[in-house]
Amino acid sequence: MKKKIVVIGSSNTDMIVKAPRIPRPGETVIGGEFSMAAGGKGANQAVAAARAGGDVTFVARLGDDLFGRQALAGFRRDRIRTKFVFKDTKTRSGVALICVGETGENSIAVALGANAKLSPADVEAARKAISSADILMLQLEVPLETVAAAIRIAAGKKVRVILNPAPARALDDNLLRHVSILTPNETETELLTGITIQDDSSIREASEMLLSKGIGSVIITLGARGVYIATREVHEFVPAFRVKAIDTTAGGDVFNGTLAVALAERKNLMEAVRFANAAAAISVTRMGAQPSAPWRKEIRTFLQGAQ
Ligand code: RIB
Repeated sequence: MKKKIVVIGSSNTDMIVKAPRIPRPGETVIGGEFSMAAGGKGANQAVAAARAGGDVTFVARLGDDLFGRQALAGFRRDRIRTKFVFKDTKTRSGVALICVGETGENSIAVALGANAKLSPADVEAARKAISSADILMLQLEVPLETVAAAIRIAAGKKVRVILNPAPARALDDNLLRHVSILTPNETETELLTGITIQDDSSIREASEMLLSKGIGSVIITLGARGVYIATREVHEFVPAFRVKAIDTTAGGDVFNGTLAVALAERKNLMEAVRFANAAAAISVTRMGAQPSAPWRKEIRTFLQGAQ
């Protein structure tokens, strides 16, 4: 039977320009190609988890507009449960402006729209689903009080919580101590710990500081280098698979969504990270956020080829 994953978070429509490089402030770069794709950190993670084999319930807010309707149709195509995807009649759906450079690096500006209206009451409506989930997965593109309300429900029922602290925001220790698995990237790690990530020892020091707050496991994503896993027993680097990246947008989201499924299926941390690394590697070879998320079969085939 599929494992139950509840994802709470944002949904955006991404407006993407693939340009020779990302412009500096005040600069105009020409020669780009335009595309639109479904995005939003929460929605990307929900889609990645569904395609990786999870039974996914998504809790989110969309505007009552074309982008919202398209997003909802996409979730249904991916067989995501949408009972708690609310329609906000007063606010537009979220939009992200994304510039992708030649080597796949990106810069993103988000207009949160209805995502900013996702409330603790919305989460409360999904209490039963959260309480019976194998994993609750969250990011920080929705209000912090909403994230905190969801974590409180999960903690009360001993449901494992994965928090992807993106985009970077300061977080209360009271919230962090209920997090089972925290998955920051380098910048988010720096913001949460005040430690500049410059070498292996600073990565270890930062992960130990996060563990000391009561978090179960810390998985620091390091882009093309791979990830660093820290628990009370293990400190270890897991290398990324080497691929030619064309668009790194949502690579982290695909990693997180796939990780949630692997952990819910009781794979050990190493195996789960390898499975999620494979999914992320596939995703960065494709353009767009949700269009890049691979299906379980593709991840398996990739891993067989990598052995
Ligand atoms: O993590 C990538 C996502 O960040 C994009 O899809 C964009 O919508 C923003 O939420």
